[in-house]
Order: sequence, then structure tokens, then C-alpha cells
Amino acid sequence: MILETLSFFSMIIKLMAQPTRRFYLKWSKLIAPKVRQLAFQLEDKSNIAFTAGQFVTLNIEGPTKTLHRSYSVANAPHSNTLEIACAFVEGGVASTLLFNMQEGESLLANGPFGLFVLKEEHPARYVFIATGTGVTPYRSMLNDLQARLTTSHPELEIILILGVRNRTELLFAEEFNAFAKMHPNFKFYACYSQEPLLADQQPFERLGRVQSIFPDLNLDPNQDIIYLCGNPHMIDENFALLTNMGFDKKNIRREKYVFSH
Ligand SMILES: Cc1cc2nc3c(=O)[nH]c(=O)nc-3n(C[C@H](O)[C@H](O)[C@H](O)COP(=O)(O)OP(=O)(O)OC[C@H]3O[C@@H](n4cnc5c(N)ncnc54)[C@H](O)[C@@H]3O)c2cc1C
Ligand SMILES: NC(=O)c1ccc[n+]([C@@H]2O[C@H](COP(=O)([O-])OP(=O)(O)OC[C@H]3O[C@@H](n4cnc5c(N)ncnc54)[C@H](OP(=O)(O)O)[C@@H]3O)[C@@H](O)[C@H]2O)c1
Repeated sequence: MILETLSFFSMIIKLMAQPTRRFYLKWSKLIAPKVRQLAFQLEDKSNIAFTAGQFVTLNIEGPTKTLHRSYSVANAPHSNTLEIACAFVEGGVASTLLFNMQEGESLLANGPFGLFVLKEEHPARYVFIATGTGVTPYRSMLNDLQARLTTSHPELEIILILGVRNRTELLFAEEFNAFAKMHPNFKFYACYSQEPLLADQQPFERLGRVQSIFPDLNLDPNQDIIYLCGNPHMIDENFALLTNMGFDKKNIRREKYVFSH
């Protein structure tokens, strides 16, 4: 108990002690009509330490005060590059800035922060659920998941469900499908909430919100660990659904992309 309390406080101190550093934009590209992927580096191009699933907080200089906006890291750790994916928000201060940022320009950021990470554990199955850019923490985790699937935990099953409005909004689907091809225990599903019938619908594509796929998954409160990331309404609705099914709260991990007020 004492050890647990000590490690909790040392974790809090570590989180608070994250430095503010200047990040330079190396490249950016549009990966969906309203989502831009951006890759940053430090000036000396040194490695940027983070754990897959964490986020960074950007400092945006406003006319009267500095605003803070958080973004999940989208790439795997052990790299000198830090990628994020930003969804454009009409009139949004940070997303407008990020959409207009040019190569070589820089901004200040703190981090990494967050506990939405993989733990040392051996569940029968992980079910990773996201809407929109909420899928990026799972992209960041792919290398770690690959290591588990190929060495430490080959019987692990993984389901990744990404909810977007339509096919044009899909993010990193080619990478997730390629990963699924390499690892039969990994399944990827895209759920389209506003797509009319698709003549060429692929096996990984479903119509409806993310939770419409639940009846096909035989969700098991005793075996599955669920991760939820992205739209806060999606997270609250699914958290309620899952706890009603008998899931223990500790087996449902959440990262809500709430707006700053
Ligand atoms: C831990 C964490 C991780 C996050 N990770 C990501 C990420 O990886 N990618 C990402 O794109 N975002 C992420 N977000 C959200 C992000 O931090 C910003 O909130 C988002 O980019 C909007 O910031 P902005 O400055 O552009 O908009 P703001 O200037 O904050 O908002 C502009 C105005 O529009 C309103 N508004 C904005 N969007 C909507 C909406 N969808 N519906 C209704 N009203 C709206 C706001 O209330 C405000 O009045 C994350 C948030 C958190 C807390
Ligand atoms: N209140 C907030 O803080 C808030 C709210 C929304 C978005 N955001 C953030 O705003 C940015 C832009 O977001 P975005 O518009 O690109 O995409 P998004 O809001 O992250 O995702 C859109 C998808 O989420 C689905 N969705 C919404 N509510 C849901 C629910 N209760 N259950 C299941 N699915 C649900 C939508 O389905 P439908 O088409 O059926 O609605 C749509 O498919 C992101 O950073 C996002 O996280 C914040």
C-alpha cells in the first residue's frame, strides 16, 4: 500500500515536471478532408521520449494570454519525430494555426502527459475504440502491440474500431489493414455513421456508430479490456453501455478529447 502510494506520487511529480520545449514543423499533410498530420522535431533533432498513447500540450500565444491545447502523439516512440493529427474546428484557435503552419515554423509544447497507455498485463483481448483523430494513440501503440503479438503474448486478440462519418474521413486505414494482414489476431473495423449504402463495401467496413458493432464481438467483462478515445459523447455513451454489461470501471480506459473553455 505504502509502495503504491509512493509510486503514485512519484508519477504525479514526473507528470508535473515535463519540460516546455520548442518543436519545429518538419512536414505536414492532409490525411482526410479536415484532418492534417503534422510531424515535429526538436532543434537538435534528439529523440523525443514518450510512451505510446500519451499526449502533448501546445502553447498557443493569443493576443492576451497563452492558450493550451492537447494532441495525442500519433507515431511510435523511440523517434526524433513527434507526429500529431489535428481535426479542423471552425473558428478554432489551435486547429487554424496548425492547419496554416509552414515547414520550419515552431511552437512551444509541454509533455508528454497521460496514462492512456498499455500496461504490463495479459488480457485475453484488447478492444480499442476511437472516433476521428482519437485513433492516433492506437497507431502509436502498434509497435508495442506487434512485440506482444510476436513474442510476449502471442495468443492476445486485438480489435480496433474507428468511427468516422464516412469513408473520406478514414484515418490510417491502410496501415491498420496492413497490420491486420500481418497479424491474424488483430482485427480492424471502420464504422461509418453517415455513409449511405456502399456498393463496394469492404469486409472491414460497417455502417453505423462504433457501438453498432458490439453485438458481433461477444464482449466479455471477464476477459476484455476496453480503451475509448476521442469524442466525449461517444466515450460517455459507451462507458455507460459497457458498465451496464458488467464491465468493471478499471477495465475501461478513457481519453476524452474535451474542448478547452
Ligand atoms: C487529452 C486530449 C487529447 C487531444 N488530442 C487531440 C488530437 O489528437 N487531435 C485533435 O484534433 N484534437 C485533440 N484534442 C482536442 C484539442 O485539444 C482541441 O480542443 C481541438 O483541436 C480544438 O481546439 P481549437 O483551439 O482549434 O478550438 P477552440 O478555439 O478551442 O474552439 C473554438 C470554438 O468552437 C467550439 N467548438 C470547437 N469544436 C467544436 C465541436 N466539434 N462541436 C461544437 N463546438 C465546437 C468551442 O467550444 C469554441 O467555442 C485533444 C484534447 C484532449 C483533452
Ligand atoms: N464536446 C467536445 O469537447 C467535443 C465534441 C465533439 C468533437 N470534439 C473534438 O472536435 C474535434 C473534431 O472532431 P470531428 O468532428 O472531426 O470528429 P469526432 O467528433 O471526433 O468524431 C465524429 C464521429 O463520432 C461519432 N459520434 C458522435 N457522438 C457519438 C456517440 N455518442 N456515440 C458514438 N459515436 C458518436 C459521430 O457520429 P454521428 O455522425 O452519428 O454523430 C462521428 O462518426 C476533435 O478533436 C474531437 O475530438 C470535441
